[in-house]
Amino acid sequence: MQQRPAADHWRKILLVYILQLFPYTTLAEHMKVQLIAPQYITHGGVATLFCNHTVSDDLLHKIEFMKGEKRIFQYIKERNPPYIETLHIDGAKLEYSKNGTTIKLHDVRFEASGSYTCEVTMTTPIYSASSDPVEMKVISPQSANPKITFEKSMYVVGESLEANCTSSAAHPVPYITWFINGKEVDITLVNHYPHTHHKNSLMSATARLKVEVSALHVGENGLLEISCRATIPAFPMQHEQFADIRKKAVSVQIIPAPDVTSSAAILVRELTLSTILCILNAMHEFIP
Ligand SMILES: *[C@@H]1O[C@H](CO)[C@@H](O)[C@H](O)[C@H]1NC(C)=O
Ligand SMILES: *[C@@H]1O[C@H](CO)[C@@H](O)[C@H](O)[C@H]1NC(C)=O
Ligand SMILES: *[C@@H]1O[C@H](CO)[C@@H](O)[C@H](O)[C@H]1NC(C)=O
Repeated sequence: MQQRPAADHWRKILLVYILQLFPYTTLAEHMKVQLIAPQYITHGGVATLFCNHTVSDDLLHKIEFMKGEKRIFQYIKERNPPYIETLHIDGAKLEYSKNGTTIKLHDVRFEASGSYTCEVTMTTPIYSASSDPVEMKVISPQSANPKITFEKSMYVVGESLEANCTSSAAHPVPYITWFINGKEVDITLVNHYPHTHHKNSLMSATARLKVEVSALHVGENGLLEISCRATIPAFPMQHEQFADIRKKAVSVQIIPAPDVTSSAAILVRELTLSTILCILNAMHEFIP
């Protein structure tokens, strides 16, 4: 009989403990940390990184920002001052908000590209959660539309059309896609040349289109439109637009292929005949 009060006592403690633990574990389980940061930043620009988390202010212990494995900013609420200011980051100048949730990278250079995460730690229970990484890329966009160069601006059906598309200088190197009458061409028709390097790590790309002109290519106006697109990145990511896109289109005149009954063919035959007559005439003068 004497054991009962003790058991009650322990049961009560356990219950209180569970009650106390329960909301906290739930809190920890539901703790969400998300880094909101841009995927592309223009060279020399500013990137704002916001660590969005669900920890209430009274339970917050620490917020950290990482670039790869390296800690670039730390905020500890109980410390005075709460932030470590001396942290260095490659390729940018760091600014931070007083509450530790936001950092800004100023005057970004290419070295600032990388994988960024933020991590939040709460006090009771001691629990940390990290955000998914955000791949940030510092880019230098193209300064102009690509240029299309080709040898002739007029082709006969059956002839081989060759044209180059060259992007303006950018970083990273733009990717060129060719189109015929607005439709992306088969990759077997395209040859990508090695990049050309320019100053300040900029690069330009050249890709050749080589295609045999077919009657199917020609519109009612007798024109064929070839166009190229130079983009960063090469392919759009899910639900994402290109960070940089430039286009150029040109029209080439297509002459239908000569066939036996066409006036062009008759003209050619007549020309040949008159040339022969001419030669015969000339021979006649030499050989009287
Ligand atoms: C922060 O996260 C909350 C919930 O997790 C979400 O509702 C809110 O939109 C986020 N804030 C931003 C700026 O995305
Ligand atoms: C923290 O500071 C940033 C920038 O000053 C502000 O946008 C944000 O609302 C603040 N967050 C909290 C929880 O006070
Ligand atoms: C295309 O570019 C390549 C490499 O620069 C060059 O060798 C070739 O002559 C160019 N062709 C045309 C049609 O401009």
